[in-house]
Amino acid sequence: MTKLNETYTLNNGIKIPKVAFGTWQMPAESTRQAVLEALKAGYRHIDTALAYQNEKEVGQAVRDSGIARDEIYVTSKLPGETKTYEGAKKDFETTYNNLGLDYLDLYLVHAPFPWDEMGKSENIEKYDKANQEVWKALEEILASGKVKSIGVSNFNVHDLKSLLSTAEVKPAVDQIQYYVGYTEPKISQFALDNDILIEAYSPLATGRMLSNPTVERIAEKYGASVAQLAIEFVVQNGAFTHKEHILDNARLDFVISDEDMDTLNGMKDSAVDMYHHGRQE
Ligand SMILES: NC(=O)c1ccc[n+]([C@@H]2O[C@H](COP(=O)([O-])OP(=O)(O)OC[C@H]3O[C@@H](n4cnc5c(N)ncnc54)[C@H](OP(=O)(O)O)[C@@H]3O)[C@@H](O)[C@H]2O)c1
Repeated sequence: MTKLNETYTLNNGIKIPKVAFGTWQMPAESTRQAVLEALKAGYRHIDTALAYQNEKEVGQAVRDSGIARDEIYVTSKLPGETKTYEGAKKDFETTYNNLGLDYLDLYLVHAPFPWDEMGKSENIEKYDKANQEVWKALEEILASGKVKSIGVSNFNVHDLKSLLSTAEVKPAVDQIQYYVGYTEPKISQFALDNDILIEAYSPLATGRMLSNPTVERIAEKYGASVAQLAIEFVVQNGAFTHKEHILDNARLDFVISDEDMDTLNGMKDSAVDMYHHGRQE
């Protein structure tokens, strides 16, 4: 049993692997091979999105892997720009056909806002109603059996509250930016109180964590690389993660002490918010 096989249990009783292999910024032409290597290295959760333009290759790798479909967890996402019920249904069909799998394990609303409107706090309520409509479409997709769980991404407390006010099915996860020095305490607490799993993305702050001296010093104590330490940190905090350096990052065979977790949890300086600056509450 490695960390790659360990799971959290979602609010619907379904188990989700603690560590995922992320495919953001992965060119379509190298995705099939990378996902096959990740699966060979033991990863059992693959994260993609319609916006990543590599769903076809992810699906191909899952089909070609020789691993039983029910042993692999596949997540994809509805583009943040799609904010109508019909649009959500249409984009889901594209994703479903791209992947070519009988079902998706998890389907997320990629963002509460179209990307080019992220961070504009003056229109915080602008998409509340649209997100509720989109969520209705996801609830129907869930009922069709084509996805096993539905969730959101980049939602803050306001966005979650608004969605929950009309939702019949609670989001199973909120996939958010989360790493040492950037642990979104308000969103994390709200998610915990509402039984929504926080899924940590960019555990290495998209690479910027790699040169952080405090993290480097603590990593050395465990004979671990900065990347391994940063990934283990989010796993031990109960969030879960994504990564690219397949074999190196998979070696999570150490436990960070309580004292070092306190130091890491107390860090505020490792990086800045990249996606929704000014939108936290
Ligand atoms: N929902 C969302 O809106 C959202 C947004 C961002 C990300 N995500 C998900 O989270 C995943 C990870 O995000 P991210 O790309 O920002 O990830 P990250 O894990 O924070 O950082 C990845 C960067 O770290 C480097 N790296 C990783 N392991 C390393 C190692 N052992 N040694 C040296 N460098 C290392 C990678 O280099 P290389 O380029 O050489 O691999 C890459 O530049 C994405 O693939 C995606 O699935 C979701």
